[in-house]
Amino acid sequence: MTNYERAVAEKLEKIQQKPHVRILAIETSCDETAAAVVENGRQVLSNAVHTQIPLHVPFGGVVPEIASRSHVQKIGAVVRLALEQANLSLAELDAIAVTNGPGLVGALLVGLSYAKGLAYAAGLPFLGVNHIASHIAANYLSYPELEPPFTCLVASGGHSHIILVEDYDRYRLIGRTRDDAAGEAFDKVARVLGLSYPGGPNLEKLAREGDPTRYRFRSAFNEGEGYDFSFSGIKTAVVNRLHNAEQAGEVIDRADLAASFQKTVVDILAEKSVRAARSQEGEAGTKLALAGGVSANRALREAMETRAKAAGITFYCPDFKYCTDNAAMVGSAAYGKLLRGQTDGLSLNAVPYLSIEDDRK
Ligand code: KG4
Ligand code: ZN
Repeated sequence: MTNYERAVAEKLEKIQQKPHVRILAIETSCDETAAAVVENGRQVLSNAVHTQIPLHVPFGGVVPEIASRSHVQKIGAVVRLALEQANLSLAELDAIAVTNGPGLVGALLVGLSYAKGLAYAAGLPFLGVNHIASHIAANYLSYPELEPPFTCLVASGGHSHIILVEDYDRYRLIGRTRDDAAGEAFDKVARVLGLSYPGGPNLEKLAREGDPTRYRFRSAFNEGEGYDFSFSGIKTAVVNRLHNAEQAGEVIDRADLAASFQKTVVDILAEKSVRAARSQEGEAGTKLALAGGVSANRALREAMETRAKAAGITFYCPDFKYCTDNAAMVGSAAYGKLLRGQTDGLSLNAVPYLSIEDDRK
């Protein structure tokens, strides 16, 4: 046993008896450098986020190499800020957690290496956390009473999943996108509408001024009985509508187009996820949560709330600050793992395509 392993074993032995378990969490899976300290999985003592948006705007999307470089430059300051805001030193922590996938491999490696270095230096338990599980756990921060089982729609830039959260560490995939993720479709349509990166929030802003019933985008696949999604056809239909109008010299109302596209996607997400929740047995059929970057979209939050309510289902969605990438949600997801002793060795690697169903060890 190495000195590090001995220090970790001693910490883990006492963890169950500790009234305050404090985890420093780090997130660098895409374009936010984030660190947070979370107590007992639910109480956020600090939440520092440095966004790289201005760096990627000139390119219209995230440039992986620029993202990695910026994470390297900022991670030290962001972690220091999280510790300062929580008024804690490394010695007062109980573990270090970090996103190890899915995400951009170079970006993930920055957070992972930094977290390993800290854990080793401070003799603290180390945990890798799944990014999708973290997005789901964002709901625990906003609803102290929420416990599994529940059904959850995760809609982000890389994923659109309907997941049955059977337990804190057990997930079952009910539905998924066959092509583009919902956020990805928002970003691509935003780009053809001439909106700057990040497309999702900018498209939502434009859609607020538009008429969502002006243009119709039918989608045969999504009208089926299953729980899988397809957004690529809708995206192409919007792009074609815009190009055809340009060629014919027809004036298209961009706000109406944005609103109609948003309504199409939101209705599909809300309809399928509420139907998926209804089909679950027991408690999971009475609770529906929303997670991932697209959960910041007000039209989606409202549509899901209305449909869930009509079906007698309680609806949950995270506070806005926990919707897009942050580290507080990582600290929440890591808590249960730490209590169960599911720590990782310092050889843990980044896994760009890590699946949520691999989460249980
Ligand atoms: O979860 P997230 O921050 O990063 C990933 O894990 O992918 O999600 C980012 C995605 C982007 O596609 C972004 O455009 C989308 O979430 N997004 C939105 C909104 N805010 C973020 N999409 C629609 N409306 C929004 N308000
Ligand atoms: Zn994310």
